[in-house]
Amino acid sequence: MSELETLTELAKRRGFFFSSNEAYGGTAGFYTYGPEGAALKRNLEDIWRDIFVRELGNMELEAPTVMPEAVFEASGHLDGFDDMIIECPECGATHRADHLVEDEIEDIEDAEAYEPTEVAELIATHHIECPSCGESLAGESVEEFNLMFGTNIGPGSSAPGYLRPETAQGIFVEFPRLKEYARNKLPFGVAQIGRAYRNEISPRRALVRVREFTQAELEHFIDPERDEPPIDRVADVELPLYSVANQNAENGGVETYTVAEAVDSGIIESEWVAYYLGRSMDFYERIGIDMDRFRYRQHLPGERAHYAADCWDAETELGGSWVEVTGFAYRSDYDLSKHGDYSKEEFTLFRQYDEPKTVERATVDPDMSYLGPEFGGAAGDIAAALESLAGRDRSAFDGDEVTVEVDGDEYTVPVERTGFAVEEQTEAGEHITPHVVEPSFGVGRLVYSVLVHSHGTDTVDDEERTYLDLPAELAPTTVAVFPLMTKDGLDDRAREVSETLREAGFEVAYDDTGNIGRRYRRQDEVGTPYCVTVDYETQEDGTVTIRERDSTDQTRVPVEGLPAAIAELVDG
Ligand code: GAP
Repeated sequence: MSELETLTELAKRRGFFFSSNEAYGGTAGFYTYGPEGAALKRNLEDIWRDIFVRELGNMELEAPTVMPEAVFEASGHLDGFDDMIIECPECGATHRADHLVEDEIEDIEDAEAYEPTEVAELIATHHIECPSCGESLAGESVEEFNLMFGTNIGPGSSAPGYLRPETAQGIFVEFPRLKEYARNKLPFGVAQIGRAYRNEISPRRALVRVREFTQAELEHFIDPERDEPPIDRVADVELPLYSVANQNAENGGVETYTVAEAVDSGIIESEWVAYYLGRSMDFYERIGIDMDRFRYRQHLPGERAHYAADCWDAETELGGSWVEVTGFAYRSDYDLSKHGDYSKEEFTLFRQYDEPKTVERATVDPDMSYLGPEFGGAAGDIAAALESLAGRDRSAFDGDEVTVEVDGDEYTVPVERTGFAVEEQTEAGEHITPHVVEPSFGVGRLVYSVLVHSHGTDTVDDEERTYLDLPAELAPTTVAVFPLMTKDGLDDRAREVSETLREAGFEVAYDDTGNIGRRYRRQDEVGTPYCVTVDYETQEDGTVTIRERDSTDQTRVPVEGLPAAIAELVDG
């Protein structure tokens, strides 16, 4: 079995994750986290929260997962959140056309950047066949397929809605309220951990590409002209970078730069993105990603999402290929501007000038008697459109004519008919649309990466054992307690010890089934770092053994000192 198959089998057997709805034949792209997996995922989310909410001083919210259509019209998802689909004429199976091209043509790594017609041509010229039945796909058309799951809000179909394809939109749409909460001061960050949904054409590789998944996203709102990231705090952090410029170099194209070097040399365009790449290293290390199987990869220009100006991915190596686990994007003012334009609500913030400024502003008083005869029934709307130009600086009226749009039609009006005049005003500041820097983590992909990277085998007492060397703060169980035998009061004493450890705040498992060796193996396999055994010596001198997963070393400690001894081991 391959590394990934072995891990997926362990995950199923030991209750980390398994395909959902198996009693009904299973549903592709949906996974259930079992008791061990749910605990591990929760711990991973808590570590993320500790860094990206608590340490960075950000707020956290929880928004609904269903949002009305207007949100996605504004965000661009309704029009642009598509993947390329091809349908087999023989068996009717659907496939992601760009993935077929990447899988079958050696030097193509990023077919998503191509047009559907180009992908169809590559499929034809390379004689690519349907992976399900082997029929040739040459000549089949490649279409765009929108990945959002649609629904109706309330009975009937008058209020279409969608399951959010990214948690981010639940933050952006609430910006008018969030800015007030932040006392109208930039910069501020808003985090959210929650479900996102994408109707993926070809779900694959266990938790890697699924249709419902958890994202942990941070939207950091900044003033692009005034706010700078505290680069000094991460200047010396080393980043393994796989950049566009460097991709053909030795060592798989990965070179290590400090954050400061990457910024100074211009490899990373956005200082904010560089800052978050640096800040996130601590997170990946804390959750136990193998840093020899980790890199940051720069997006190719054609690969960037519709909103992103500079974009890097964190990738982990899984089963021989690289998988994106986090996207770091400089989203500029794209989202807030769009939501402001569509909703007509205030998605801007007032930026105070250092000194009040005297500015010339246009006043407009269109002459309806002039506008009337020539523009007919549209005159009233044209006058309203002109009036909305009031308050602009005078450059809007610098030519001979002003053009306004009414119901999609453009009307050109001579400046003298607009009633334009100039008024001097003293102003304290101006309205700006904040920019957004976004680190977006895929929780399931991280859980999967950590499991794959921590999985290993060795030999203990002449027997092969399988283990997960998970960090103690991530492991579903921190300490397992065993009685040597279920007699002579050893089991009662072991239950008492478990209770004491639980009260001290540890995640504790109690197990009295099977021989001690088997019990150790079971805990090794789910990554429990410490096991405590209550035996006959406990009855005599009040001590228990602590056995460490990685070294398998055993030490005796007094029961009263056990919580402190475990805490010391956990803290390293
Ligand atoms: N708000 C930005 C955003 O959603 P993305 O790169 O599309 O960006 C962010 O997604 C992260 O979400 C990815 O890095 C990945 O870890 C995770 N992700 C995306 N699609 C996924 C899927 N179908 N299954 C599992 N995780 C997924």
